[in-house]
Amino acid sequence: MKRKNFGAKPLTCAQPVWILATYDENGVPDAMNAAWGGISEENEISVCLSAGHKTCINFAKTGAFTVGMATAETAAACDYVGIVSGNVVADKFARAGFTAEKSEFVNAPVIRELPVSLECRVIRYDPESCILRGEIVNVGVDEAYLTDGKADMGKIRPITFDPFNNAYHVLGEKIGNAWDVGKKLMK
Ligand SMILES: Cc1cc2nc3c(=O)[nH]c(=O)nc-3n(C[C@H](O)[C@H](O)[C@H](O)COP(=O)(O)O)c2cc1C
Repeated sequence: MKRKNFGAKPLTCAQPVWILATYDENGVPDAMNAAWGGISEENEISVCLSAGHKTCINFAKTGAFTVGMATAETAAACDYVGIVSGNVVADKFARAGFTAEKSEFVNAPVIRELPVSLECRVIRYDPESCILRGEIVNVGVDEAYLTDGKADMGKIRPITFDPFNNAYHVLGEKIGNAWDVGKKLMK
């Protein structure tokens, strides 16, 4: 087997496309795109964030943020908030076409246009390692995107980030159940 070596780079597939949303001290919402993140404990997520982002300035004051899942329908808005900083464009959130609803659980905006949202409290942010750790306080899903009370990926159409090609892909067909398809090999 011959493999091409890409070296020590942050390349996995597929990365999440998370939209972190925060309020500033005046209640103005901001949002940014983050792909370098994952679940790190039962109720905890970790994201690698550069310290200068408006997002980091905001959650340092409010202690909270939300994480919306980017969707095929909202891809342009989700990409836009990853290109432009709230430090430069004060009404970036509105320009993206996003509207905010204050979380019931934390002092951060839930983006109405993103059907799945984690509402998080800041545990710790270390500007040296760039790691933000957040406690997941609630996960809210827009009822229009549920089928039989469960989040329906066919309706939500979440997108993933392909860092090899700087591309977004919509999640495709279901090919089986987790903790299940492998059972046939347990002989
Ligand atoms: C696909 C994509 C993924 C990104 N992932 C991250 C990330 O994981 N961490 C980070 O610090 N910035 C990431 N960025 C860059 C920020 O989203 C961008 O700098 C943004 O303008 C910061 O916004 P803010 O200053 O309003 O918080 C990403 C951008 C894109 C387009």
